[in-house]
Amino acid sequence: MRKIILPSILSADFCRMGEEVAMLEKSGADMIHCDVMDGTFVGPITFGAQMVKGVRKATSLPLDVHLMIVHPETQIERFAKAGADFITVHYEAYHADPSTEKEKICSVLKNIKDFGIKCGLVINPATPVEVLKPYLSLVDLILVMSVVPGYGGQKFIPSSLEKVKALVKWREEQSLSFAIEIDGGVTEENASVIREAGVDMIVAGSAVFKASDRARAIRILRGEA
Ligand code: DX5
Ligand code: ZN
Repeated sequence: MRKIILPSILSADFCRMGEEVAMLEKSGADMIHCDVMDGTFVGPITFGAQMVKGVRKATSLPLDVHLMIVHPETQIERFAKAGADFITVHYEAYHADPSTEKEKICSVLKNIKDFGIKCGLVINPATPVEVLKPYLSLVDLILVMSVVPGYGGQKFIPSSLEKVKALVKWREEQSLSFAIEIDGGVTEENASVIREAGVDMIVAGSAVFKASDRARAIRILRGEA
């Protein structure tokens, strides 16, 4: 199946965001990945729903909103109204209290779906993929972080691909249909091994924004050049 390429606007020029997003659409991006960071769940602060609203106006491509924030359930409505098409929340945002983890994750996923938006769960590199098992039938998407979240331009963690392979296997065994997304450290050099592992959606920040020909970079990541 054709791979979905999602440039991350974390690597964009924030003063020219409208032009940057229009350029990504012209260059053949399939979706736009929006990295929301709160300075607590991860160190840096990026942007909130106001930026997503602006990006929504600048493109007709679907918007994939990656919430690296604590208490994501308090923000779903804002991002839904801003125009998100996909919203992903971190498993780790709920893991601190195992007695409420499952109830809270099920509730936030339902909340996202009730807005007519596709929902997903994200795991950090240090989190074992097995923790996702109870939620696989509830999500449209699983996002496997292949770097520690917080910054663009980090090195890909190869063991992430073992998680992808486990997810591919479980999806088939249980006849499920969630998509598998990877985020962090994707380059033109490692894209083929990532595609071969069974990833459906590939996020790329620096690999797209640092390329002199962004359209070509997107084709290479997709395996078309
Ligand atoms: C990292 C973000 C990523 C980041 C990827 O916390 O979630 O989406 O933008 O950047 P690259 O592709 O440069 O690793
Ligand atoms: Zn991201």
